[in-house]
Amino acid sequence: MKLCVIGSNMVDLTTYIDRMPMAGETLAAPSFAMGCGGKGANQAVAASRCGADVWMVTKVGDDPFADNTIRNFQLQGIHTDYVEKVPGTSSGVAPIFVDKNGQNSILIVKGANESLLPCDVDDAKEALDKCDMILLQLEIPLETVYYAVEYGKKHHIPVLLNPAPAVRELDLTRVAACDFFMPNETELSILTDMPTETDEEVEKAAKKLLGSGFTNIIVTLGGRGSLWMTKDKKEYVKPYKVSAVDTSGAGDAFIGCFASGCINASSVVEAMKRASAFAALSVTKKGTQMSYPSSEELENFINHA
Ligand code: RIB
Repeated sequence: MKLCVIGSNMVDLTTYIDRMPMAGETLAAPSFAMGCGGKGANQAVAASRCGADVWMVTKVGDDPFADNTIRNFQLQGIHTDYVEKVPGTSSGVAPIFVDKNGQNSILIVKGANESLLPCDVDDAKEALDKCDMILLQLEIPLETVYYAVEYGKKHHIPVLLNPAPAVRELDLTRVAACDFFMPNETELSILTDMPTETDEEVEKAAKKLLGSGFTNIIVTLGGRGSLWMTKDKKEYVKPYKVSAVDTSGAGDAFIGCFASGCINASSVVEAMKRASAFAALSVTKKGTQMSYPSSEELENFINHA
């Protein structure tokens, strides 16, 4: 499987907290860790761990973080021909707070990711035209996302769009041509302006998207598993039960692993099951990319679950 991720990279600055400080309060927190992150980069790493040949199309700043990010891609076996430095700009950074239950709150400063433009999609033509799927998220300019969806459509390359973080300005009519639209339940709620607390509500909201032209909606539901809906079917995939220490990057883990195994329509459920295992393993360790298992660990987990 050859994949191109057109998306973000960030430096994750994760603070593990007992609670959030109140306004004006200074509060000691138990620990801190720095690692490579960003939704695009995380999905690229997850896909690569799961056996895909991955090209990353992204921009880094001209600060000390940039070389580390590029080196990390290379260590993960990801092609960096289309990773470019932007002079006078900072790399993307993400202060993350993880509470005692493993739940995360994330701020993002996009930095150089804002400079990833439609012309960069054209510049990556050589890699794009030989890939089996394009992966997109929303930490880069929306115009670039729209352009990449059109590019995929025009060149018959399947496109997976993870609308994260969800932004109300996303013009759904300009992305409905994507082959897989993969929000989590919160993103689905924001994008449809509908509640998504129960399975029934999630299905209703997904149906609304199907009614506006999307073909495959896969909703990641965290500890509740995932749901695939098309106009004529719905399939739930159960979650693996694990005890979570840090859920950050789990959605990206799911998506990268899913993309590496989704060869055609008949492989969707199998790819979701595998992705569910990969994401489950990721929440048992701290960090985003740092928590992703190797393919051997994944096999072992699936065989013994
Ligand atoms: O999805 C998790 C990611 O969101 C983190 O790695 C952080 O960088 C933000 O992009």
